[in-house]
Amino acid sequence: MPPLDPARTDIVHYSIAARQFRQQVLPPGLPATTVWGYGSTRHPGTFHCPAFTIEARFGTPVRVRWKNGLRDRNGRYLPHLLPVDPTLHWANPPGGTSARDSRPVFRATPGPYTGPVPIVTHLHGGRNSEESDGYTEAWYLPDAADIPAGYARVGSFYEEFNRAFAAGHGESWGLGEAVYQYPNRERASTFWFHDHALGVTRLNVYAGLAGFYLLRGGPADLPEGVLPGPAPRLGDPPGQSYHEIPLIIQDRAFHADGSLHYPAGRAAFDGFAGPYVPHSDIPPIWNPECFGNTMVVNGRTWPVLPIEPRRYRFRLLNGCNSRFLTLKIVANSSARRPAPAVLPFWQLGNEGGFLPAPVRREQVLTSPAERADVIVDFTHVPVGTSLYLINEGPDKAFGGGKPGTEFAPADPATTGQVMKFVVGPLTAPDTSVPPDQLTLPQFDPLPAADRTRRLSLSEKTSASLPHVGPRGLLLGTLSATGKPVPMRWDDPVTENPAVGTTEVWEIHNFTADAHPIHIHEVQFQVVDRQRSGHPAQPPEPWERGLKDTVVAYPGMVTRVKARFDRRGRYVWHCHMLEHEDNEMMRPYLVV
Ligand code: C2O
Ligand code: CU
Repeated sequence: MPPLDPARTDIVHYSIAARQFRQQVLPPGLPATTVWGYGSTRHPGTFHCPAFTIEARFGTPVRVRWKNGLRDRNGRYLPHLLPVDPTLHWANPPGGTSARDSRPVFRATPGPYTGPVPIVTHLHGGRNSEESDGYTEAWYLPDAADIPAGYARVGSFYEEFNRAFAAGHGESWGLGEAVYQYPNRERASTFWFHDHALGVTRLNVYAGLAGFYLLRGGPADLPEGVLPGPAPRLGDPPGQSYHEIPLIIQDRAFHADGSLHYPAGRAAFDGFAGPYVPHSDIPPIWNPECFGNTMVVNGRTWPVLPIEPRRYRFRLLNGCNSRFLTLKIVANSSARRPAPAVLPFWQLGNEGGFLPAPVRREQVLTSPAERADVIVDFTHVPVGTSLYLINEGPDKAFGGGKPGTEFAPADPATTGQVMKFVVGPLTAPDTSVPPDQLTLPQFDPLPAADRTRRLSLSEKTSASLPHVGPRGLLLGTLSATGKPVPMRWDDPVTENPAVGTTEVWEIHNFTADAHPIHIHEVQFQVVDRQRSGHPAQPPEPWERGLKDTVVAYPGMVTRVKARFDRRGRYVWHCHMLEHEDNEMMRPYLVV
């Protein structure tokens, strides 16, 4: 995806809409797929799923007018492409905005929800003020002529953030849009943007609302030419070759007519019985996880990338809803698993920019939302060779190697394959620095913590928490005796760091699975992990530097340290989107 082009360059302005369109996601000859994607409203040719990249420069603010363009040609709203579960605590436009910090009255619309779709965009990894963060309850509907009377057109925090933005930046938001500004003072990093509307994020992202945001320059970047390049630019001539390529890897499933399939059968996956909203006649259709049976990279199933015998820089993003990926480069795509790696990844960076030093990895495990900035050196691969990027992560929730979970890699015939590389002749010499000789820009470690919070991940059944589904996965705090105190989205805020302080958050995982935990507004350091009764383990070499998403393994405490230096209302949550959408998200306040 080449970058979008901005309208001005002092503050870089974009006008980006989410729209519905058709795209050839499946191989040519198979039907096209109706998807959602972002694009520049000034350039109809830029609508793509995933979005074209936003390229930001350190210190130059980017302002984006994010439009909800989920309307048809006649200005009528488009219903969701995928089945919405109105029994979750979700944006719920027919129910009106919910009162702040009080339990909402459950008001599901009768029958399946076919109304207009709320969206709100989060820049994942960015450190931005609350009104520009894409708060999950600051959603908005499209500006459509036929929004039914009585529907809330915006979420409960939209107006407040609109006023705050106008006060700070002199621009207020119009109907069906929000305008956000990103100062871009972070380290050069691989960020991404995606939808974040309450209780429908999994569906909006699955439909296609995601894209890369690459922040370049500043003291934490390398000079141009050190790493493999170039990256795509808008308007490049066809046939231009690229040696820096962002790759968003997603699992998807399709119907025979090419349309996206999202599991919506009652308890289709884990055999949990519904309904979990006892007073509702609507069958709940939420599933605890979603695993597609095809792999899609940059909006193409199982693509082939022609390459040269040289070094490539890949910005890997696990853009799956629930799936953990274990990526490897092998010679034979259908070999028994585990398959021997033929080329290593040199990991240079993660979510928060460069690592202290390059790390050689035979395989890269990534959870949903984690990024790996890697170099793969194809220099000595003979012309004519085919190599494969494969996935050996499981076709189910990731247990994290806890005792009793044996190695169960993805199906080598389908989700075990990601993409293919075909090596052609070298067209120009490679002048990039070999990865083992790179010196990476250093970062300032965070100061000592002012306080420690103990937090929990736990699992509840419908009997104890009727609103939370057949299996409720909840965040919460920890009691003095070390028992989880699970909480829902609407429970009062319990995490309220004082502005300017540094805190350690201890995440105690009482569930059976690993969960990728993401904290908005900060880039944290992983302090350590500890199994009870055992010594603490330091972070993995590829987890050093700064991160915004960390895997919390079952039965372990995962400690992260962050400095909270901007007042406001943010969220922390599990980034398995099915979990996030069903209460595994909590607001927090920097006060
Ligand atoms: Cu990538 Cu709160 O999200
Ligand atoms: Cu989770």
